[in-house]
Amino acid sequence: MRFENKVCIVTGAASGIGRATAIAFAEEGAKVVLADLEDFESVKSQISNPESHIYLKCNIAKREDVVELIKTTVDTFGRLDCAINCAGIAGKLSLPVHEYPEEEWLNQIQVNLVGTYYCVKFQLEQMMKQGGGNIICVSSAAGLVGQPDNSSYAASKHGVNGLVKSAAIEYATKNIRVNAICPTAIETPMIMHGRRNLAENPAALEQAKNHQRMKRMGQPSEVADVALWLCSDQSSFITGHCMAVDGGAFA
Ligand SMILES: NC(=O)c1ccc[n+]([C@@H]2O[C@H](COP(=O)([O-])OP(=O)(O)OC[C@H]3O[C@@H](n4cnc5c(N)ncnc54)[C@H](O)[C@@H]3O)[C@@H](O)[C@H]2O)c1
Repeated sequence: MRFENKVCIVTGAASGIGRATAIAFAEEGAKVVLADLEDFESVKSQISNPESHIYLKCNIAKREDVVELIKTTVDTFGRLDCAINCAGIAGKLSLPVHEYPEEEWLNQIQVNLVGTYYCVKFQLEQMMKQGGGNIICVSSAAGLVGQPDNSSYAASKHGVNGLVKSAAIEYATKNIRVNAICPTAIETPMIMHGRRNLAENPAALEQAKNHQRMKRMGQPSEVADVALWLCSDQSSFITGHCMAVDGGAFA
């Protein structure tokens, strides 16, 4: 019960990594504010003490939604101890930069980078008022190295890592830590039914597994465990870190 009575926001909490993270924090005693565009039926049936948490429809790409998310959190629970920003999208297209439709390119930036910026900005504002806190952004390995035919996603995640490192320095003496998690292939709806449609493409699935030295994909719970640790006092001297969670891919 490392997070007993701690208040945690998890964005993207209806699916995949966010869902596993919300469940993991609730298991450790946290009061969780789950935020997503989608409904929460599947997570509600699995989360401990489902009535202790709040479930909010929120589009992180809209400033007013994120302001409302923080306000509802503080109005309900009085504070915000941890925020795990998982919400994000991956484009469905594989195209080089000059062929990529502009609107789609910019939409990924709007959700993954601008949306994460709104979350971090207003989370920091609240954490400054209360004298501390802990922020995690779920970025990507595509925030550490380029990803051919997926430049918008990679640019958005590089942007998230730049935001994380800069904020970590700005708030390092304010009792606020800011870190990123950079996974490679994690078995979630995004990757199984997304751009490469791994669920229906055995060759691409094999390739995705082989990218990790462990020759398998990661599980959402393996990312959630890292988020728990990075938000806990056991990582108290770590800030501004963009941690690869990659089964040895970048070793
Ligand atoms: N699955 C992977 O292999 C992988 C690898 C690296 C990074 N990531 C990152 O992990 C995060 C979680 O991805 P996932 O794999 O769990 O995907 P997912 O599609 O299973 O879950 C993403 C969730 O975010 C929500 N979401 C999307 N746009 C939103 C918005 N504008 N406002 C609020 N919620 C929104 C979706 O509704 C969904 O519930 C993403 O930021 C993704 O880029 C995933």
